[in-house]
Amino acid sequence: MFESPLNCSILKRACDKGLAEIHVHNLRDYTLNKHRKVDDYPFGGEAGMVMGIQPIDACISALKAERDYDEVIFMTPDGERFDQPMANSLSLLDNIIILCGHYKGIDYRVREHLITREISIGDYVLTGGELPALCVTDALVRLIPGVIGDEQSALSDSFQDNLLAPPVYTRPAEYNGWRVPDILLSGHEAKIAEWRYDQAMERTRRLRPDLLE
Ligand code: ADE
Repeated sequence: MFESPLNCSILKRACDKGLAEIHVHNLRDYTLNKHRKVDDYPFGGEAGMVMGIQPIDACISALKAERDYDEVIFMTPDGERFDQPMANSLSLLDNIIILCGHYKGIDYRVREHLITREISIGDYVLTGGELPALCVTDALVRLIPGVIGDEQSALSDSFQDNLLAPPVYTRPAEYNGWRVPDILLSGHEAKIAEWRYDQAMERTRRLRPDLLE
């Protein structure tokens, strides 16, 4: 689940350039039972299996013995909602652990004693925390200076200033009779900047009025 997203494009280049280090750990490697089982039947007889505390504690302890961590994050739909300001602040940390589990199916003592922060990527339930962890990882790594080519471009993303980004165009200036806005071809920098701002405001008002509240 992690191999492909971490081994292509910008995340891979960030790691190759030494700007980020991402390690994936398999909780089965930290089990003490002969079948390398990470889950067990729940106390009290609810449906479904529950991920046990032992391999999670063993994994986190082994990692903490190697370096200090700023946060131990659990991905869960009932966590704090992930957004751009949170991505910005997490991207400034040196080391984080992200635990992927199953929101109903994890021994609650993990959350009570081992986790420092719980994050949700939105109000819907996925089968596990792996895809959410990849979303958070991608959002953080691309903010590390040097990771994306144009230093400006992370700052001009939608949401960085609570506005949606203005439209962009490239050549040809006309395709099938569909023209790029004349202003962008005018070479008039101040007017172009004003147009971009107006477009950002208009799109935000129309598509995401909540951002302006
Ligand atoms: N695990 C399952 N669904 C999730 C979500 N929406 N956010 C974070 N972790 C999750």
